[in-house]
Amino acid sequence: MLKIEAIIRPEKLEAVQLKLRRIGYPGMMVTEMEGHGRQKGLHSDWPEGMRINFLPKVKIDIVVENKHQKEVIKGIISGAKTGEMGDGKIFITEVKDAIRIRTGERGTQAISMKEPLALVKKGFKK
Ligand SMILES: Nc1ncnc2c1ncn2[C@@H]1O[C@H](COP(=O)(O)OP(=O)(O)OP(=O)(O)O)[C@@H](O)[C@H]1O
Ligand SMILES: [Mg+2]
Repeated sequence: MLKIEAIIRPEKLEAVQLKLRRIGYPGMMVTEMEGHGRQKGLHSDWPEGMRINFLPKVKIDIVVENKHQKEVIKGIISGAKTGEMGDGKIFITEVKDAIRIRTGERGTQAISMKEPLALVKKGFKK
């Protein structure tokens, strides 16, 4: 299992979500945060070393099976890329284990994409 951690422009969140919905993904967490990359949040026409600015970004975390890595990353990039500096970054780390609290399922079972939608709907009706 891998954790795909993508830092993107906040205004690109919707585009990334749309791409990912088409591909399919087991779940995600979204965090609003601030950060800077190698330009230190400076605008290109400001004097170098003036000061460091933190720019608003959104972090998306998705834990996926190794075999889904490529398509999910592709989806994130295609939704988030403008070609300008500050488009963001993707970090990939190994995840040791996962547990679905409701069922006790572990590992890849716990992040399975097959959601019992019919059951979900039934549950909501109650
Ligand atoms: N090395 C890093 N470690 C942790 N977070 C980072 C790192 N680099 C970038 N980030 C995060 O990603 C956000 C976007 O970075 P950014 O896209 O500006 O990267 P960059 O390396 O400067 O690339 P570019 O030259 O395309 O701007 C930053 O605001 C920060 O939150
Ligand atoms: Mg940058």
